[in-house]
Parts: sequence; structure tokens; C-alpha cells
Amino acid sequence: MRSCILVTGGAGFIGSHICVALSAGGYTPLILDNFSNGDPGVVERLGRITGRPPRCIRGDVRDRALLDRLFREECVEGVIHLGGVKAASDGLSDPIACHENNVVGSFTLIAAMRAASVKNLIFASSAAVYGSPDVSPVPESAACRPSSPYGRTKREIERALTALCVADPAWRVTVLRYFNPAGAHESGLIGEFPRGTPLHLVSAVCQAAAGLGQTFKVQGSDYPTWDGTTIRDYVHVMDIARAHVLALDHMQQRPWQQGLQTLNLGTGRGHSVLDVVRAVEHVSGRQVACELGPRRVGDVPACWANPSMALATLGWRASGNLEAICRDSWCWQVSSGRWPDSILPRIRINSNLRS
Ligand SMILES: NC(=O)c1ccc[n+]([C@@H]2O[C@H](COP(=O)([O-])OP(=O)(O)OC[C@H]3O[C@@H](n4cnc5c(N)ncnc54)[C@H](O)[C@@H]3O)[C@@H](O)[C@H]2O)c1
Repeated sequence: MRSCILVTGGAGFIGSHICVALSAGGYTPLILDNFSNGDPGVVERLGRITGRPPRCIRGDVRDRALLDRLFREECVEGVIHLGGVKAASDGLSDPIACHENNVVGSFTLIAAMRAASVKNLIFASSAAVYGSPDVSPVPESAACRPSSPYGRTKREIERALTALCVADPAWRVTVLRYFNPAGAHESGLIGEFPRGTPLHLVSAVCQAAAGLGQTFKVQGSDYPTWDGTTIRDYVHVMDIARAHVLALDHMQQRPWQQGLQTLNLGTGRGHSVLDVVRAVEHVSGRQVACELGPRRVGDVPACWANPSMALATLGWRASGNLEAICRDSWCWQVSSGRWPDSILPRIRINSNLRS
């Protein structure tokens, strides 16, 4: 029988791609999402990709009664927990709400899992737990000094999960620290669904390339990096999704290995903001008008992962390069039906890049 995996936040950007990877990997995803930032059309489009839409429950991870009922009625074997506030900027503007959603939500979920004796968990953490790392590539052993309220919520949950696994060795927890997930599924049917101004660089540059909104503002061009702009580790969202399936397989195949494991998910390579601009220009065949602006508060100059532990543990390695990330993101945004008809005739997908 295919194992049923509860995916909290499964209607969101990363969660929807995880659902595709789960179906391909022989698991049955069950989505729990409150649609505060989820895409209502995603379930139907997931069905078009996988041949069968996943079941989806509209609800909140802070709703303990709902979780108890769900674990009673469904045969859930593991949980992938993504539901929460995803953006550092949300934490800055409303740190209490960020804490409430991320920390209280996670603790409510963990308590319900414990009550139902479901003790297999993959937690979506973030490179934000490192804050401003002393060196890149960053290994998992690097000091965790989160500099944002959002990063602190992720670290608080990680610490609680560590304590939980010490107190009860029956738990198997994989903490995955994502670096900069970007891109989209190659079908162009799912991707990041920005409400208003996109928070992710690749989506924002694609919108600027399409001529939506104003010029693209580069936030800081005087960093001590090769071109003065910040450097990050952009990792294809389908690579991120695949890692979750490998982590579940790893849990299933080695039931004797209990406790908590923390893994970085990145490519091990950094790209600057201007590298991303050039890559989007290449895949879209359009120029991006850039404006150099001041630094954004709290941004670190450079941060990329040492992903060798994920390779050694799961056999995972990112395969999508920056061009693939930008191409898939561009295709998704062009085909998502969210751009005004007036601009669509002016844009094209550089079909040479598809081969
Ligand atoms: N996208 C990134 O750059 C990034 C980087 C590191 C870590 N993460 C983490 O990965 C996870 C997913 O991120 P994403 O980019 O897909 O974000 P997203 O906003 O697209 O997806 C999150 C989903 O969770 C849902 N949600 C929010 N609060 C909920 C709640 N209380 N109960 C149920 N559902 C809830 C939202 O409706 C949304 O569908 C988040 O936990 C985020 O912190 C994301």
C-alpha cells in the first residue's frame, strides 16, 4: 500500500512540488493548508501533472481538534511540515504573528502527532537559521545565529525537535535547511504564486523582464562580492522536492535509525543578483531594466551551502542549474494566466533553451 504522507502547506510553492515528487515516488500526499498563501487552483493542476489530484483538507495547523480528527480518520505514516510564514519580511513586520504561526503551529502539530503515535517528521527549515555565516560554503555544524524573527522561529522549532528526539527516541525527524528554492515544475502548471510584489528574486526579475511594474531594484551594489551584489545559493524547487522523497525512503528503509538529522539543501554554488538578471535575460530573450539601490536591512553579503551531508546521507545532489531555474520560472509565469493579456504577445519563451 502507498504510504499516506500529510503535507502541511502543501498548496504553497514548495509543498505543491513536493506533492508531485511524492506521487512519483510512490507515496500518497494528503494536503493540509489554510490557503493564507496557497494557490486554490493547485489541486486540480497537480492532478493534471500526476494523473490524480491529491486530497486536500482546508484547515490550520494550529487547530488541534482538526488535527486529532485527521490523525484518527486517516492512516498517516509521516508528516512533511511546511505550513507557516515563509518570508523574513513577514517576521519583521509582524514578529508575533510569525511566531504564532510558525512556532505555535509546529508545537500544536507535534503534540497531535505524538498523541496519534505518528513519529516520522520532515521539517522545512531554512538557511536563515545561520544568520550571517562566518564562511561559505556553510556546513550544518556552523553556528546558528539567526538575525531575523523568522529565522529565530525556525531555530526555536529545530531546538524543540532536538529535545523531543532525545526525550523519545522513537521519533525520526529530518530537518531540511533550504537555501534559496526557486524555479518551477517543468510542465509550467505549478510554481511560486506571488501575491503582489514577489518576494523571491527569480520571480521578481521575471516580472521585470516581462515589463510588469517598474524597473528591477538591485538592493545593494557595494557588498564585498565579485560584482558588489549579494550572493545566494539558488536551488531548483524540484530538487528540493526530491530530497523529501529520499528522506522518507531513508526513514522507511532504515527504521532502526532514530533521532534527528539536519541536512542543508543547496547546490554548493553561489550566484549574484546580477547573475540571476543575466540568466533571466537569456531565457526570456528580454532585457531587464535595473536600478541600483541601497542595501536592504539585514541582508548578508554571501551565503551558500555545503550540501555534502545530504549527498552522503540521502544520495541527494541538486541537478537544476541557474539557467534551468530561470527557464522553468519564466515558463510558469508566462503560462500561469496571471499576466495581463496585453503583455503576453510581447513575450516569448526562448524555445532553443528547451532542448
Ligand atoms: N521559499 C523559500 O525561499 C523558503 C526557504 C526556506 C524555508 N522555507 C520554508 O518552506 C516552507 C514552505 O515555503 P513556501 O515558499 O512554499 O511558502 P508558501 O507560502 O508558498 O507555502 C506555505 C503554505 O502554507 C500555508 N499555511 C501558512 N500557514 C498555515 C497554517 N497555519 N496552517 C496551514 N497552512 C498554512 C499557506 O497557505 C501556503 O500554502 C515554509 O515553512 C518556509 O518557511 C521556504
